[in-house]
Amino acid sequence: MQKHALIKIDDKEHTFPVMTGTEGEKAIDARNLRKETGYIFYDQGYGNTGSCESSITYLDGDNGVLRHRGYTIEELAEHSDFPETAYLVIYGELPNAAQRKAFGQLLRENAAIETQMQRIFEGFPKDAPPMAMLSSIVGSLAAHYPQLATNNFEKDLQQFDLAAAMAISKIRTIGAMIYRHNKGLPFVHPKDLPFCNNFLHMMFSEPYQEYAALPEVAKALNLILLMHADHEQNCSTSTMRMVGSSGANLFTSLAAAINALSGPLHGGANTAVMQMLQSIHDENDDGTRFIEAAKGGSKSSRLMGFGHAVYRNFDPRAKIIGQACDVVLKKLGKSDPLLDIAKNLEQAALKDDYFISRKLYPNVDFYSGIIMRALGIPTNMFTVMFAIGRSPGWIANWREVASNPKGRIYRPRQIYVGPVKRAYVPLANRK
Ligand code: CMC
Repeated sequence: MQKHALIKIDDKEHTFPVMTGTEGEKAIDARNLRKETGYIFYDQGYGNTGSCESSITYLDGDNGVLRHRGYTIEELAEHSDFPETAYLVIYGELPNAAQRKAFGQLLRENAAIETQMQRIFEGFPKDAPPMAMLSSIVGSLAAHYPQLATNNFEKDLQQFDLAAAMAISKIRTIGAMIYRHNKGLPFVHPKDLPFCNNFLHMMFSEPYQEYAALPEVAKALNLILLMHADHEQNCSTSTMRMVGSSGANLFTSLAAAINALSGPLHGGANTAVMQMLQSIHDENDDGTRFIEAAKGGSKSSRLMGFGHAVYRNFDPRAKIIGQACDVVLKKLGKSDPLLDIAKNLEQAALKDDYFISRKLYPNVDFYSGIIMRALGIPTNMFTVMFAIGRSPGWIANWREVASNPKGRIYRPRQIYVGPVKRAYVPLANRK
């Protein structure tokens, strides 16, 4: 039976249908609210607003649950790899053997960056911030492949398979080129290798010495990327949908999402975690000072890698990556004092009333940097790694928007609190 919600405003009752998702999430369908009542809902930051229906990712922040297309993140972490999970996130089903092979082939064929595109790097200073380079170069894919980026959903969807594989593969290649650019090293061209091995080859091979990734290293990188594959309507994914809803093509929407990811409260947090751990280490602190400062309530002194906009429980990705840290470091025969600091910090915070009462737990970024560091990826590249991993989620969300025949341009409203109408004051009369 269709449920309804009753809203009483100015003594008048209005009913609105209740929607229920496949996992039982409930929402009031308020699409006609303004038309019927003259009111809108005020929901700063959209924390209580469902901006879309989506069948990609299910997230239950209260219980620490994350599933892509119905599969738990724990099972995917154990059995899948990044390209397969990317396929699942984008197309909705795990690929069969032929589909997996064809997708891998498409990723390989589209890994290279054309010479003209490579020249973009010449315009960037040697120490240009990696995310600034990433967004502009990804945006330029629309200029280099205009036939795949028409700003016409129907045409763009006909070419979607190629554009999607190209985006995932090239974002990865561009990421490696950004690293080489910052280091002042010559670019290394992609080879016929599995996705993550190819990335490591493009990062670390030298003209005089090929880099052959240990299986453990490629596996750890697969895990890191897979952990980031999608995460529901976060800031960058909502940006992707918002920009895509205007009819903007896949590549330009991706550039916007990358910019949204660059902020320290979103994708930039993994870098901030490492900086925090490093300064605790450099100052020979045990973390107590950081924890005390974080309790001050200032945004600039937060315990980075802790808390989440939707998880009020352990971020399941943090559990998986936290456990993988020990395994990876052991397999690589490395130890990292920052891992010990992170563990101590976690234990101290989990016992502290401030963090307990606010339900602040480690998030995905708390441990991911330690693994990336062990793989030789520098801190300033961490957010780029996040972007490479998140590309399937952004692409899948863009596809949902583009292929929705009833889709509308995203256009929230506001409560205006500025000056009321007033007369223009000529310059000579102004104080
Ligand atoms: N350290 C100290 N206090 C915190 C922290 C933190 N990391 N996070 C939240 N709080 C406090 C906050 O000050 C507030 O306190 P009060 O109730 O006294 O005002 C309370 O906890 C509730 O926080 P909130 O404002 O509801 O949290 P939010 O949903 O606005 O913010 C967040 C979520 C992730 C931006 C925030 O927890 C944060 O800044 N964390 C550190 C940055 C970080 O690790 N970001 C990565 C997020 S995971 C990657 C991704 O998906 O993008």
